[in-house]
Amino acid sequence: MEVGTTSLPEKQELLYEGKAKLLYRTSDPELVWVEFKDDLTAFDGKKHATLEGKGAFNNQISAVLMGMLNQEGMRTHFVQLISEREQLVRHLKMVPLEVVVRNIVAGSLSRRTGIAEGTILEEPIVEFYYKSDELGDPLLCHQHITKVLRLATQEEIEELAQAGLAINRVLSHFFDQRGVTLVDFKLEFGRDSQGNLVLGDEITPDTCRLWDKATGTKMDKDRFRRDLGNVAEAYAEVLKRVGA
Ligand code: TMP
Ligand code: ASP
Repeated sequence: MEVGTTSLPEKQELLYEGKAKLLYRTSDPELVWVEFKDDLTAFDGKKHATLEGKGAFNNQISAVLMGMLNQEGMRTHFVQLISEREQLVRHLKMVPLEVVVRNIVAGSLSRRTGIAEGTILEEPIVEFYYKSDELGDPLLCHQHITKVLRLATQEEIEELAQAGLAINRVLSHFFDQRGVTLVDFKLEFGRDSQGNLVLGDEITPDTCRLWDKATGTKMDKDRFRRDLGNVAEAYAEVLKRVGA
């Protein structure tokens, strides 16, 4: 693991505890200290387990993927790795939407449409979900976002969709070269202090569907959701493939 070399700000109090991560304030108001937890949840937290090593795998996988996106000229919050399970990220004001990009039908899209899992979409699609555990992250249509909840304007929806599709092009190619099919994934964006749209949260097997290109084997959180076993082994394999 390559850890960043620039000097670190001081870690301060806990700002927020999510299902998979702890966020701490730092002595630099622009920077947040993230610690990835070993907790694994699904179905709005109704299914929960602890998986030793998961936090370390996800921290390093997200660091590699976001570092790569940064190098490709896309804005992400990732700054540097701190340790096996910690990283430093830029502070963002989050947009309360989950942006899902899909290349292949799976999961809720298969359930919602009746189309078989594994069906390749003619072109990638983007969906927006309301980030609300209480409501179970419901799917929103554009007018719910612009006129009812007023979470974003039509222009901002377009900006989010274009950012999601651009990230999809880079990530799909990156995974493909490593023998992995990127089926779908979820992104969360925020704004930095200059108002730029920046990718936040994480890109990990918790937030992506990843299928082995040769065998179709699932290498993501569906192993946990569907009780397929070998969850830690799959996450370890993803880290190995992305080449950290
Ligand atoms: P879905 O098929 O269940 O809607 O999931 C689509 C993608 O989004 C899949 O890669 C898993 C990811 N996802 C999350 O990261 N968090 C969530 O809360 C949900 C529902 C999905
Ligand atoms: N991440 C969500 C949860 O923990 C849902 C899921 O991924 O299935 O509830």
